[in-house]
Amino acid sequence: MPPANLDARRRLLVFLLQSPLIGGTVLASRPAAGRPGLAVPQALDEVLDVFQMKSAARRALEPPAWHFIVNGADDQQTLEANRRAFDEWQIRVRRLVDVSRVDTGLTLFGQRLDSPLILAPAGAQQTVHAEGELATMRGASARNHLLMASTISSSSIGEIRAAGTAPLWFQLYPSPDRELMRHLLRAAENAGCAAVALTVDSPTRGNRMGERWFARVAGRPGPAPMGNLAGYPGPPRIGDPAMTWDIIDWLRANTGLPVLLKGIVTREDAQLAVRRGVDGLIVSNHGGRQEESGRATLDCLPEVVAATRGRCPVLIDGGFRRGTDLFKALALGADAVCVGRPYLYGLGAYGGDGVAKVLSILDSELVRAMQFAGTTTLGAIGSRYLQRRA
Ligand SMILES: Cc1cc2nc3c(=O)[nH]c(=O)nc-3n(C[C@H](O)[C@H](O)[C@H](O)COP(=O)(O)O)c2cc1C
Repeated sequence: MPPANLDARRRLLVFLLQSPLIGGTVLASRPAAGRPGLAVPQALDEVLDVFQMKSAARRALEPPAWHFIVNGADDQQTLEANRRAFDEWQIRVRRLVDVSRVDTGLTLFGQRLDSPLILAPAGAQQTVHAEGELATMRGASARNHLLMASTISSSSIGEIRAAGTAPLWFQLYPSPDRELMRHLLRAAENAGCAAVALTVDSPTRGNRMGERWFARVAGRPGPAPMGNLAGYPGPPRIGDPAMTWDIIDWLRANTGLPVLLKGIVTREDAQLAVRRGVDGLIVSNHGGRQEESGRATLDCLPEVVAATRGRCPVLIDGGFRRGTDLFKALALGADAVCVGRPYLYGLGAYGGDGVAKVLSILDSELVRAMQFAGTTTLGAIGSRYLQRRA
C-alpha cells in the first residue's frame, strides 16, 4: 500500500492530466490548422469527421488509454510533421469529367479490395475498448476493409479471424527467439492471413513521454497484450535490435506468405528490400511513436516509390485524417493507405460501430476528393493532380 499522501498525490496528478488544459495542450496532437471548432458529438450519428471522433474518444477514455493512443515520441515533431506534410501539397482539380461513378477498388497480392484504406496494426486494443481487436474486426468487416492485426494484440489472430469476414494480414514483430517467430507465422497462416508485414522500425522503444508518465503515476494503461503470446512455452521476447537484412531470407524460408516490410522511409532501404525480393513496402514511422526524425512519411514516399520502380506495391501510413490526405498519397505513388489512430478513436468512443463509422467517413471523403479532381479510378490518380505549395 502506498502511504496516504503518495496516493493523494497520484490522484491529483491523474486529475491534472485529465484536464484539457494540461493533458490537452502538452500531450495531445494539435488540431488541424484553420479547422472550425465543432462541438464534441453526443452520439455516433453526430460524428462528421475523424477530428470529431477524436473529441468523442477523448471524452470517453481514461487518461492512460487516451495517452496510449495519441502519444508521439520525444517532442512529437515527427508526429506533427506527418500531419503538416499534407499542407505542402495542393490538388489540381479537373473539370467536366463524368464522375457519376467512382471505383475505389484495387488488387493487392491477388486479393480484391473495395478501398485503398487499410487498418494499420495496433497492439493491446483492450486498453482502448473491452472487446479490443474483436470489435475492430467487426467494424472492418461491416465495411469490408483490410485489417492488419498486430503481434501484440489483446486477442489471438485466430480469435480475430473468427470475429469477422474482413480481409486479414498479420503484422510480425521480430524476436531474438526465432522459434517464437515461427510460432507466430504458423498461427497467422492457420488463421488464413493473406500476407505478413514485418515491422522494421522498432530496434528499441520510442520515448513516449505521456505513456511513461502514466506508467509511473497510474500503472499500466490496461491489460497486458497476450493474445498471440499466450500458451507459448517460455517468456515471449518481442523486439530484436540485432535484426539485419538476413531476416528476409529467413522469412522466405519460413513462410510462403507475401512479405512486406513496415517502416521503410529511404530510397537506400527500399532498394535493398526490393533486391532481397520483398513483396511490398509500407512507408511508416509508426505514427511518430518511434524515432524522432522529424521526417513526415508523405515526404519519404516519393523517394521510396522511385526506388522500387514499380517492382512491388508501396503502402503508406502516418497522419492520414482526410480523404484529401489519401488522395495526395495516391497521387504521389502509394498503392494504398493505412490508418492507426483514426479507427482507435472510433473504437474508444463507440466500439466496432465507431470503427465502421471512421472507415465510412474516410471512404466517402476519398470518393468526394476523387470526384472533385475528376478521377474515377485509383489508377487515374497521378502526380499531375498535385502541385507543391508555392
Ligand atoms: C496505439 C498504437 C499502437 C500501435 N501498435 C503497433 C503495433 O503493435 N505494431 C506496429 O507495427 N505498429 C503499431 N502502431 C503503428 C501503426 O501501425 C501505424 O504505423 C500508425 O498508427 C500510423 O499513424 P496514424 O496513427 O497517424 O494513422 C501502433 C500505433 C498506435 C497509435
